[in-house]
Amino acid sequence: ATERTLSIIKPDAVAKNAIGEIIARFEKAGLQVVAAKMQHLSQEQAEGFYAEHKERPFFKDLVGFMTSGPVVVQVLEGDNAIAKNRELMGATNPKEAAPGTIRADFAETIDANAVHGSDSPESAQREVAYFFHADEICPR
Ligand code: CMP
Repeated sequence: ATERTLSIIKPDAVAKNAIGEIIARFEKAGLQVVAAKMQHLSQEQAEGFYAEHKERPFFKDLVGFMTSGPVVVQVLEGDNAIAKNRELMGATNPKEAAPGTIRADFAETIDANAVHGSDSPESAQREVAYFFHADEICPR
């Protein structure tokens, strides 16, 4: 089924000038960018986005990292978009990510792991709405 998922190109990948190469992987896999913006997240924005991780030991570092530089936030649309994006990204820890995945190719550590992608239809709906108003999404 056609789905939408939220993708974030994180500060490490933006700093590496890898925005285009990462978006090219989405497009080559048949996902369409239907919304996109570059943003330097505030602490409140990052904390709210990652609220489900609030009690985890890595939360403070995660928020610090995600506010360390600009990110590119996108809505990707396509058949099976949520799982497809997660396949393209590879495992959360780049050291465990399969060869040829975005995290294997662009990231070294679990904290600075190049990309975020929604992990379920429920989180996709929440995460897309967290960053985009309905009228900022441009179906094609
Ligand atoms: P992301 O998919 O953006 O969701 C939460 C992020 O927390 C995750 O990617 C990692 O970059 C980061 N993180 C740091 N340590 C861990 C950990 N032990 N388990 C899961 N995520 C972690």
